[in-house]
Amino acid sequence: MTQHSTGTSITFDRATKTYPGAAVPALDALDLEVEAGELVCLVGPSGGGKTTALQLVNRLVDLTSGDIRIGDRSITDQSAIALRRTIGYAIQQSGLFPHYTVADNIATVPVVLGWDKARIRTRTAELLELVGLSPVETWLPRYPAQLSGGQQQRVGIARALAADPPVMLMDEPFGALDPITRVAVQDEFLAIHRAVGKTTLFVTHDIDEAIKMADRIAILKPGGKLAQFDTPANVLSDPADDFVAEFLGAERGLKRLALTTVGEIVTAGTTGAKAATTDGARPSTTGWPDVEATMTLREALSVVSAARADGAIVHSDGSRLGEVSLHDLIAPPAAGEDREGVRA
Ligand SMILES: Nc1ncnc2c1ncn2[C@@H]1O[C@H](COP(=O)(O)OP(=O)(O)OP(=O)(O)O)[C@@H](O)[C@H]1O
Ligand SMILES: [Mg+2]
Repeated sequence: MTQHSTGTSITFDRATKTYPGAAVPALDALDLEVEAGELVCLVGPSGGGKTTALQLVNRLVDLTSGDIRIGDRSITDQSAIALRRTIGYAIQQSGLFPHYTVADNIATVPVVLGWDKARIRTRTAELLELVGLSPVETWLPRYPAQLSGGQQQRVGIARALAADPPVMLMDEPFGALDPITRVAVQDEFLAIHRAVGKTTLFVTHDIDEAIKMADRIAILKPGGKLAQFDTPANVLSDPADDFVAEFLGAERGLKRLALTTVGEIVTAGTTGAKAATTDGARPSTTGWPDVEATMTLREALSVVSAARADGAIVHSDGSRLGEVSLHDLIAPPAAGEDREGVRA
């Protein structure tokens, strides 16, 4: 394909959908711009219009009014079929064709685009590696029913990426996974996103998933209205209204600790372990558990709590990086912002 695989924005311009016979819109004058290469998570209550917003983009649902542009081009400027070839779409339960093998599922769009066999084979193998299914020969001939849920979702992601579309739409793609597989697939997807940088609109029910994955989070409220659109740090520290605060939940302060790693605060030199005692004596670190520098403050706090300790020793690549006190963990400097902390 001649188009660029990165660098295409998605712009909702007062995008509105009222389903036939409905008294109120499912999506109400949504203004939202997903910048090129950005990963935006769309969250909100059930029935809030998230799936509708995604399906408007690839024209599985038609706009009632307003417009959506991909790059500078309105989605209505081309046929729905041509449009969909430029958009990767992954949904819950993977949406694989049950009577197609893994190889044929991934090849769906490339075949439509008329790629030659060798190119399709190479691309399919590359994608299976990318989503962590290797050796590829094991997976290519299988049918979806012969895969676990997590493996199906990986194949679903590979299929969505197959023709290297500039834009990805993902509707609760990890919704059916158990917590452990879910974390693994999230990490895999984040690594892929960082490597290939596709403009991605990602729907999830799970606010923790959104906080982990998103560059920015868009929160829809009932009636399909945009409640807030901002970075995870800003949404958590400054919810726009009571609805957002309630949606984020009582653990909003704790969730914020998931935005920073212990390695970051140790490296930034903002840890205050040495000053933790009033008489200036260095606190004993005896009995402090070890944590990896890549752990979030929230995870480290959990380890420290389980060990009934006052802090933890931070390690990176097998060597000691420093230590963090309990106080460092629960009251870190604001992440990438100059705020005092979370408002009550
Ligand atoms: N095809 C349809 N015809 C009529 N109404 C619909 C249709 N699809 C969705 N709706 C309605 O539009 C509203 C938004 O639905 P949508 O599926 O976009 O919500 P959602 O945010 O994705 O919810 P969930 O989190 O449960 O997936 C709901 O009130 C729903 O009943
Ligand atoms: Mg939905």
